[in-house]
Amino acid sequence: MSTTINMPIRNQAQVTCNCQLTDGLHLLQVNAPGIAAAALPGQFAMLHCNGSAFLRRPLSIHRINAEKTLLSFLFAVLGNGTQWLSQTKAGDMIDVLGPMGNGFNLLPSSSEILLLAGGLGLAPLVFLAEEALVRGICVNLAYGTATNQRYNSRLLPRGLRLIEFTDDGTYGQRGLVTECLPDFPNANQIFACGPLPMYRTMAQHPNTKNREVQVSLETRMACGLGVCYGCTISTLSGLKQVCHHGPVFTLDNVVWDEIVSP
Ligand SMILES: Cc1cc2nc3c(=O)[nH]c(=O)nc-3n(C[C@H](O)[C@H](O)[C@H](O)COP(=O)(O)OP(=O)(O)OC[C@H]3O[C@@H](n4cnc5c(N)ncnc54)[C@H](O)[C@@H]3O)c2cc1C
Ligand code: FES
Repeated sequence: MSTTINMPIRNQAQVTCNCQLTDGLHLLQVNAPGIAAAALPGQFAMLHCNGSAFLRRPLSIHRINAEKTLLSFLFAVLGNGTQWLSQTKAGDMIDVLGPMGNGFNLLPSSSEILLLAGGLGLAPLVFLAEEALVRGICVNLAYGTATNQRYNSRLLPRGLRLIEFTDDGTYGQRGLVTECLPDFPNANQIFACGPLPMYRTMAQHPNTKNREVQVSLETRMACGLGVCYGCTISTLSGLKQVCHHGPVFTLDNVVWDEIVSP
């Protein structure tokens, strides 16, 4: 993981577009040059949802544009905060704080990587894939969703190898993304973002043993700044705050038995 933790920047960010990709799945783009210029793959931002939710809501940085002025977020509508965000339109303003957290650590020595995206876990991995492709790294992306209501693969960066799964077999292979772990013995690093059961499977899987595996965790967050301790988890190196020490952790450092879903 990145060892540098930047102080977050506050941008009054103008919405440049907000589109609904599938039922309840939105792609929001805002103009936030300060945050975009500083952002690293795996970091997140805290978005103020204008009175619909008291606390800011954390969203992974999904993409930045080549000029590093625009930030994109990929999100599902769950409650009041994301509902409000889903209704913003081009020209509206959103108070955004970021980039926050540590981000993924892409090693300079890596020549091939495997990304495991479970559902909305795709959000931070697209930014990582873009960065890896720019560095000439071979990127394998396994993307799984429950059904065929999913991110359109045509929106993904060009040049990656895509392996698609659905739980119900309505698109791609029937099954879970973790099933492809044995197929990539030469990947120097594995990066994952997805639900807790996916991480528990990975932690037990023989093909993650003695390998460099980084996972991005989600917890409920209040401050996002390492102050309230509301996002604390147990790791083998002690209690850690997901917002400050994470959200990216090495798979074998997390005490999975003590983690609960948000
Ligand atoms: C570091 C980080 C990055 C995240 N990145 C993304 C992202 O890129 N895209 C995205 O769609 N979501 C992401 N989330 C989850 C997102 O923050 C929550 O979905 C959001 O805060 C819900 O706010 P709300 O007001 O709409 O719902 P609330 O009213 O706060 O909650 C409604 C329901 O949503 C669920 N929920 C709430 N918070 C979380 C959470 N942190 N994680 C998972 N489920 C939650 C709970 O089941 C809750 O009952 C991320 C969370 C974290 C901590
Ligand atoms: S959300 Fe407050 S310490 Fe992490």
